[in-house]
Amino acid sequence: MDYLLEIARIVDGAVKGDRTKVTAYVEQLVRKLREAGEAAAADRLAKTLRQTATSEVAPALIAAPTRLPVDQESRLALADEERLAPGDVRIVLDAPVQRQVSEFVRFVKAADRLLANRVGISPSMIIHGPPGVGKTELARFIAAELGLPLITARSDSLISSFLGSTAKNLRMLFDHARNRPCVLFLDELDSLAKLRDDQHELGELKRVVVSLLQNIDALDNQTVLLGATNHHHLLDPAVWRRFAYRIELSPPGVDARAALFQHFLDGRAPSDPEVRLLAAAAESLTGADIRRVSETAIRASILDDREGVATLEILREIVRLRLGRDVDLAHTDPKTVRAVHDLAPDFMTLKWLAALFNSSEPTISRRMNAGGNHARQRDSASDQDRDTARNGPPARTGRRLST
Ligand SMILES: Nc1ncnc2c1ncn2[C@@H]1O[C@H](COP(=O)(O)OP(=O)(O)OP(=O)(O)O)[C@@H](O)[C@H]1O
Ligand SMILES: [Mg+2]
Repeated sequence: MDYLLEIARIVDGAVKGDRTKVTAYVEQLVRKLREAGEAAAADRLAKTLRQTATSEVAPALIAAPTRLPVDQESRLALADEERLAPGDVRIVLDAPVQRQVSEFVRFVKAADRLLANRVGISPSMIIHGPPGVGKTELARFIAAELGLPLITARSDSLISSFLGSTAKNLRMLFDHARNRPCVLFLDELDSLAKLRDDQHELGELKRVVVSLLQNIDALDNQTVLLGATNHHHLLDPAVWRRFAYRIELSPPGVDARAALFQHFLDGRAPSDPEVRLLAAAAESLTGADIRRVSETAIRASILDDREGVATLEILREIVRLRLGRDVDLAHTDPKTVRAVHDLAPDFMTLKWLAALFNSSEPTISRRMNAGGNHARQRDSASDQDRDTARNGPPARTGRRLST
């Protein structure tokens, strides 16, 4: 049966006299009916809702932005709310992770049908991985694809400085989420675990974890719950177990890196072979790193009045990120030349190396073939060599190096 989820929640709200919940789910039902082409039914329900609203329900409850619960002491909101539509958020994932995410979204969208066949789903997912790999962005993507508002818990205000208030805050936040169609997102869950660092806070941590578990357990199977953490080993195992789906995000693979460069460089991306070079060189960098270097390059190209970005500048930035800020590209020290070459051995041609080091191909070739323990030598490239390297972007069909 279609719309079972909404009908069940409207009935639940009506039985409990909870107008906010009834209103929120009737609104969702109206939206779904419209999407399904059931305009007459949608209009009729919307009309009923409008009449009820003017006669009985306070207008504030109908207005789109909901009032978010606040910490009693600091008066800070316990969450942020973002409304996104399908297609608003673009996420680039490695293929197997993309499949897991699509499956999750498909199950949640099919909750009606699954429930009607007495197969429940537990729509909860924890996303874990190092900083900058797109955990928060993935939660936004999922909410957008589901067409549900994203309510993101703010760990700074949730963890109250007043003993005992954190549990109260958690209850208020979960109550808020239970009463409307939404995705509740507990971002940076490890911040709760930080209480463990402070001996005085250990008792508080236990109370908070117990309260978190109780709140999660009290969710019926219809609130979509997402969590994210950088340090899943710091997370209480009982919290971890509450999430039915677990997704690990790692720094992107080479195809995803190429797609990220295309995405962030937008219409200014260089030719495909150059994007492949950048993607190969950017191994181990995160989506956040790729976004940063791409945006820097776009800014430079706008200021220089160029249409495309300078591949060489992006490459230089990648080299700095991977080998450290101190890497000295002013000198063709053999060790550095080889280290730069080894960042992307299949793509780093003599021409690119010469351009990166502002040197000449013969010099680079000599440095590459020099013994590994050589002391740093000053680049002896002639002025003419340097000028050659500076002239425009290097050709893309340079020889591969044999080391
Ligand atoms: N896989 C990705 N696809 C698209 N954009 C990404 C991806 N990874 C990172 N980004 C970009 O990098 C920015 C930072 O990513 P995000 O905040 O989601 O990382 P995070 O894993 O939540 O990091 P943290 O652990 O520091 O909170 C995002 O705004 C997004 O633009
Ligand atoms: Mg994040």
